[in-house]
Amino acid sequence: MCGIVGYIGHRQAYPIIIEGLKRLEYRGYDSAGIALYDGNSLNLSKTKGKVSDLEARSHAEMPIDGSIGIGHTRWATHGVPNDVNAHPHYSNSGNLVIIHNGIIENYDAIKKELINRGYTFQSDTDTEVLVNLIEEIQKQEGAKLGKAVQIALNQVVGAYAIAVFDKNKPNEIVIARLGSPLAVGVGENEFFIASDASPFIEYTKNAIYLEDEEMAIIRLGKEVKIRKIKDDSLVDPYVQELQMNLEQIEKSGYDHFMLKEIYEQPRAILDTFRGRLLSKEAIIKMAGVEDNMKKFLNADRIIIVACGTSWHAGLVAEYIFEDLARIPVEVEYASEFRYRNPVITENDVVIAISQSGETADTLAAIKLAKSKGAFVFGVCNVVGSSIARETDAGAYTHAGPEIGVASTKAFTTQITVLSLMALRLARAKGTISSSDFRRYLIELELIPNKVEKALQSDNYVKEISNIYKDSRNFLYLGRGFNFPVALEGALKLKEISYIHAEGYPAAEMKHGPIALIDEQMPVVVIATKKGHYEKVVSNIQEIKSRKGKIIGIVTEGDVHVKELADHVIEVPETEETFSPLLTTIPLQLLSYHIAVMLGKNVDQPRNLAKSVTVE
Ligand code: F6R
Repeated sequence: MCGIVGYIGHRQAYPIIIEGLKRLEYRGYDSAGIALYDGNSLNLSKTKGKVSDLEARSHAEMPIDGSIGIGHTRWATHGVPNDVNAHPHYSNSGNLVIIHNGIIENYDAIKKELINRGYTFQSDTDTEVLVNLIEEIQKQEGAKLGKAVQIALNQVVGAYAIAVFDKNKPNEIVIARLGSPLAVGVGENEFFIASDASPFIEYTKNAIYLEDEEMAIIRLGKEVKIRKIKDDSLVDPYVQELQMNLEQIEKSGYDHFMLKEIYEQPRAILDTFRGRLLSKEAIIKMAGVEDNMKKFLNADRIIIVACGTSWHAGLVAEYIFEDLARIPVEVEYASEFRYRNPVITENDVVIAISQSGETADTLAAIKLAKSKGAFVFGVCNVVGSSIARETDAGAYTHAGPEIGVASTKAFTTQITVLSLMALRLARAKGTISSSDFRRYLIELELIPNKVEKALQSDNYVKEISNIYKDSRNFLYLGRGFNFPVALEGALKLKEISYIHAEGYPAAEMKHGPIALIDEQMPVVVIATKKGHYEKVVSNIQEIKSRKGKIIGIVTEGDVHVKELADHVIEVPETEETFSPLLTTIPLQLLSYHIAVMLGKNVDQPRNLAKSVTVE
């Protein structure tokens, strides 16, 4: 994980780097650092803590002048988060500085070798080893910075996005990538370097995304030269026009990104529909599916690979695909799938779901599936991300940047894309009639308005949050399409409020978790009208007999659950298939309010990062 930012040009680098790091804090926020070159000296400041801590410290301890610099916000892998392990790292001579996102797996062997040659190390990081390896190569081979970086990278095993600066070559920054994202913003006689485009969006709309195993020398007054790290061959830079704007990556008056993103869902789902859901003509258009229709229709099964919230969206999709398109679906944690020698054939279609498009386990699962001949389809939010590029075809969710670490609009837009796919395939296979297809399309089109309505429960959810905020445990129950929503509700609560929560299929309760229920245990039960309603109501009765506190998520106008539950939160009625898009809304709000009331850092929960680019 980690976020990296660099600047070389005619402006003051400091504010660009600090502001850029703040935008990248979703990638890691346990320590931060900056190095600036002011024309004479290379100054560096770093600290444990957030970018705001770095801002305070750097002002006090270094001149913040200079139009070349690099900065880093860290999510620790090697070495605890402290001042010394924070990046940038100097080489022994003090001439080189480096920032790094990723892991150098063979750093220990290289470190021993360097120690034998007299090098000393301040930190416990793999990164400090890499910068000294580069320095040693410069010495041994008399190589220029770019060449030394290239030779060093051919010796290391692992993943990286790096930026290296040499104060003896102060008009250039050398960057490289393998497995961690890296973008270059191309301005008028200035360049920006960052883990994603958000740090430079107000300066330029032109960006080059480095591919894996590529490096570039970013030199003032010159074109960006990209080379393959392995064979030194030149690559033509492809300059993309960015679609993102500044407003999308700001809080726009909300207290937290998470709340903003919860409220963005009606718009985000509409954007997901755009150009795809044509209800008047009664068609769904998805180029990635259309172009590969045969693969989908001839597939023996669909295997969905994902992690975390995206995995939950995959579970919802399993219900939807099997119900509508009658295609067998298996949903796999990417992290398990990649290591368990799974049976995959050329007749399998693999769908990889990822908001960031950078999740290391999902990426590895994709590579494995491709190596076995499967066709791999990606459902990603971040345009141009590694997973979007690695898959054979795909569909973007178009949710817009998701900055809060807890995923919200990514989840609902993933379900939206997967619903559109399932409906399109169902129509092509003839597993639903044209009248049912039409009915589904009309209902799907109403979802953004219904999400808007579900959001109106916000104040009431806040009141409920206040009652239960001090509970130590929560249970979430759901059935059918809403079982994965129970899992997702529990995940949201634990990740941002640090309250223990479990999600279960409602009927599984009696096989164990029921033993946990007493008057201290709030149980959130999704009991919408069409989803095995009577059965779930029986489960609610079982909870009530054991004095559990019941928070029911029900369909508007419900009376039955109201009689049994301590609280009910209503969501509009819809097809059972699409109900997760509505029932998930109060669960997102519940976790949000509880976390805020407990004084937790909602957008940046402890130990987490938005983009999990390490195993
Ligand atoms: C939870 C959350 C994580 C991610 C998971 C996968 O709120 O955000 O569980 O869903 O790390 O990330 P992506 O979707 O980027 O592959």
